[in-house]
Amino acid sequence: MKRRIFSGARPTGRLHLGNYLGALQNWVNLQSNYDCIYCVVDIHALTTMEDTSSLQKNIHDMVLDWLAAGLDPRKSILFVQSHVPEVTELHTLLSMVTPLSWLLRVPTFKEKVKLQPQNVNYGLVGYPVLQTADIVLYKADTVPVGEDQLPHLELAREIVRRFNNLFGETFPEPEAKLTSFPLVLGLDGKEKMSKQMGNDIELALSDEETLARVMEAVTDPARRYRDDPGHPEVCNVFRLHGYFSPFAQEELAENCRAAKIGCVDCKQKLAQEINTTLKAFRERRAVLAAKPQYVKDVLNDGASRARVTARETMREVKQKVGLL
Ligand code: TRP
Ligand code: SF4
Repeated sequence: MKRRIFSGARPTGRLHLGNYLGALQNWVNLQSNYDCIYCVVDIHALTTMEDTSSLQKNIHDMVLDWLAAGLDPRKSILFVQSHVPEVTELHTLLSMVTPLSWLLRVPTFKEKVKLQPQNVNYGLVGYPVLQTADIVLYKADTVPVGEDQLPHLELAREIVRRFNNLFGETFPEPEAKLTSFPLVLGLDGKEKMSKQMGNDIELALSDEETLARVMEAVTDPARRYRDDPGHPEVCNVFRLHGYFSPFAQEELAENCRAAKIGCVDCKQKLAQEINTTLKAFRERRAVLAAKPQYVKDVLNDGASRARVTARETMREVKQKVGLL
């Protein structure tokens, strides 16, 4: 039997290059060898969102990016978390076997307490329990995630072990599958590329908008004049070139060090490379965006397929814990 992948993403709206290079391309490729389920985790989003007015639009925009990038509803299940409400039921049952002390020491929880001291809600503590429910509701065994999610996966395994010990073998222990892709820095060249930091390049920009964004990128600070020799090893524009045209990098580095290329030219080249790479993506996205009902249909179909498995699992779980 094929191994089963489950992964989720919070509905952040339009995705950027960091999402694309880091996770999305990987998700697309996994579709050929695994049984894949990809979920927009809208309930998780509520743990940190006080204003939910853009939630529906964000879901729509993100799923458009998913489809345009090649997530294929004929191969994979694409759905929205809250459309399969069994997950909240499983979350409640798993919460009974999860010691509070395990949750209070999760690094992401401690970060959130610092970031939003005015909103340390109950749901925030249970975030990793809901994440565990996401995965095990479908008995997924493989979870592609970034390094920041490893503590959540470790906790998921502990919860599963505990459940299986108490009630008998029910769920596989989910394994994290790390994406090997390096961290993509934002236009500031310091922080990880993210929408919140405002240092991102959205995938769905036009060619001109992409160029304008790239022009804002911080380069080698020592290079103030066109004749100053550059240091490509400290320049994030150089790093970005590496993702789009790795073969041209050596020559570029030489030209930068010898001040034979200026930063403006270098950025123009990068914007061109990005635009060429994303051309097909952008064309597909425009076609899909013109028929909004399509995204809805994909998500409805995904939810009804996911629900078949979810119902089966819940019947088994309820029997095991003595509710049936
Ligand atoms: N917590 C994950 C993140 O912030 C999102 C997520 C929710 C998830 N449920 C999941 C990831 C299940 C993998 C599997 O990125
Ligand atoms: Fe960076 Fe390119 Fe400027 Fe060199 S020429 S400093 S690699 S932007």
